[in-house]
Order: sequence, then structure tokens, then C-alpha cells
Amino acid sequence: MSFSLDQVRSQIPQLSVKVRGRDLVYLDNAATTLKPEVVIERVSHYYRTENANVHRGAHALAEVGTELYERARKTVADFIGASNSSEIVFTRGTTESINLISQSLALLGSSLDSKKMRGLAPGDEVLVSELEHHSNIVPWQLACARAGATLRSIPITESGEIDVAALEKLINEKTKVVAFSCCSNVLGTITDVKSIVKTAKKSGAIVAVDAAQMVTAEAIDVIQWGADFVSFSGHKLFAPFGIGVLWAANDWLDVLPPYQGGGSMIDTVTFAKTTWADAPHKFEAGTPNVSGAVGLASAINWFASIGSLQAISHAKALAENARTQLAAIDGIQIYGTSKSRTSIVSFNLLGVHSSDIATLLDQQGIAIRSGHHCCQPLMQKLNCTSAARASFSIYNTKAEVDEFIMAIRKAKDLLT
Ligand code: ALA
Repeated sequence: MSFSLDQVRSQIPQLSVKVRGRDLVYLDNAATTLKPEVVIERVSHYYRTENANVHRGAHALAEVGTELYERARKTVADFIGASNSSEIVFTRGTTESINLISQSLALLGSSLDSKKMRGLAPGDEVLVSELEHHSNIVPWQLACARAGATLRSIPITESGEIDVAALEKLINEKTKVVAFSCCSNVLGTITDVKSIVKTAKKSGAIVAVDAAQMVTAEAIDVIQWGADFVSFSGHKLFAPFGIGVLWAANDWLDVLPPYQGGGSMIDTVTFAKTTWADAPHKFEAGTPNVSGAVGLASAINWFASIGSLQAISHAKALAENARTQLAAIDGIQIYGTSKSRTSIVSFNLLGVHSSDIATLLDQQGIAIRSGHHCCQPLMQKLNCTSAARASFSIYNTKAEVDEFIMAIRKAKDLLT
């Protein structure tokens, strides 16, 4: 199916909302995407006619719920090129997925003989890049503290790419995990995943990829990437909040212990000992977010149906246009010059706080994000404490880019 901007826009109800009396110009898509009618309707339909808890009841609706939930797992598996839906764990989002990996690796420790499948143990090192969002730093800090391991950072280059040569020097026999984002939420850099995986694997490190911003930036193929773990959230992919995904190579899910306990994740329970259900269920303690999974599957199907690759190119072209127009304004500093990048543009106006820009734009109905973007170490690297960020999606228009640029020029006149 070929991409039609008008058709896509007509399918997003929130685009007709007025903000401060103006048509909404939504340029905060890296924070969360707007939701298509079909996804809202699918979730609503689930609650109106199909609502039931899964994997439990013997009644008809429980069976329907279970079938929908497990079918959603298959839709996710197909979307990212996983070989089996049992490799898909549903979580609350990227953050929970990374907490799951890191805490389970810390719990696993060195309890297995096989070096390949060993977890985090005292003396081990975990490498994360300077590009990372706090959600790919703090969980690893917690896990390192638990395991007696050390966290180290992989430098980025001037252009904002993970420095593979520096990574090669950092990796040593103590390196247990290399964790990195394949698409920066600040610089928009798209990381060369395969080359980092290749470098990390030379020393046998476990590789965990944060794909939160990647799901609308490029097609994902987890098998080709060759990593051990990949995490992402539904809400950045036109799906509801509170549903996310952890993909793991199947042998890892068999080996890792769960880090949360409760119903649904057990095989047998006695006061003396509990045994686990098979993966992925052993990582899904408690009642899962069934409506979220159903909504995520619907969002993935919708994205495919509108011509996702063309849609992605459209969003990237808008961001490139915005970048070019911003660069023509005196006093604007744009962050990140990697040639491989997605539809995210972060910038500052000399002498002006980014929140003042965001506030002035908001008064004109233009939504952008400002602040440290949950990336304080990256901000330090960029020598700033905050930045403004415009992030474009498949339903934005060239007219909106122009409106955004006009608003920036106006803000500059007012604030400098
Ligand atoms: N990670 C999200 C962002 O960059 C919340 O805005």
C-alpha cells in the first residue's frame, strides 16, 4: 500500500484538537506518538465486548482474551523478525524491559558453568554509551551494584555516533555486557547496530539494544542484528501506554531467572519451593496488560497498512527540511551531525533557555519538548543543561515545519 499523507492524517483524531485556540502542531513524537482511530477503537472494542483475564478462566471470554494476547505476541514477533513468538516478553515499556534484563542477569550471576550464558558477577564490566537515555543507564547501575560489577561509558564521536574504535579499546576480558541505543532520542543518530554487535561479540559480551526510538525510524530485524536482547515501547509506535516488548534470543529466556514473582509465571508453588512456567510466561508475573497488547498489535498492523517505509521517509524528509531551515537562523546551534539519523532535531538558541522557546511555541499550539530529555550525561557531553527538541512523525506536514520555523524566528525576536 502506498503512503498517503492526507489519508493518514484523517485517521488520527487528535490532529483535529485545538490547542490554545490553534490547530495542534504536534512535534513531540519522540516522547510519544499520537494514536490512530483504529487503535483507539480496537482497545475500546476489547473493553466493550472481549474483556476477560487471560491464561486463567475456563470460560469463553477468557479463551478469547488469551487468544488475542498470544496472537499479539505473534504480530510483534513478525514485526521485528523474531523466529518465534516465545521470544517476546510483554513488559510495561522499554524501561521495564531493560530492568528485566539487567536484574535477571545480576540474579543469574556466575551460577552457570557456561561462560556464554553466565550473568553479571563481581569484577565484571558493563559498557553503556554516552548517547543513552537514563533508562539505559540507571537500571545497569542498579544491577552492577547488586552484582558487584562496574559500569563504564563508551564515548561518542563529535558527530554523535558511538565511537566503535573507542569501544574496541574499552572491551576486555571483564566486559560482560554492551548496552546501547540504536537511535538516540536527542541527536537522532541511528547506530550501526551490526558493527557494534560484531565488536562486542568478539569478546563474547552480551549485547542489549534499546530500540525505543527505532521502531518508527527503520525496519527492525533482530536476527540480522545478532544482539541478545532488544527492547522497545508501544506508545512510541502509535500504540497505548503501558505496553512494551523485550525480545531475547530464546536460549537466554530459558536460562535467566525471573526478577518478579507472582501469578501466571509459575509452574508449581509450595512453601518450600516454586518452579517457573516456560518462557516467556515466567517473566510476566501478575495480570498482564491485555488491552495494551491488543492495541499494540493493532498499531503494528496499521503502520504496515499505511506503507510504513514510505511514511518513515516522509518524516525524515520533514526533519531534514526543519534542520536546514533552523541552520539558516543566526544563533541556532543544532546537536548531532551524523549522516545516519532519524526525524529528531535538537537545538538551542544562543543565550535563551530552551524552556522559554517551548513555552512561546506552545502558545501558538506547537508542541515540542525541552529539557535534558532524560539524558543528563549526554547533555554534559554536549556542554549544555537543556535543549529544545522537535521530533517529526509520519502525519506531520511541510506546512507544519514552516509554521514551526516561523515560530522559532518569532521567539528569537522576542527573547534576544
Ligand atoms: N524517551 C522519551 C523522550 O525522549 C520520553 O521524550
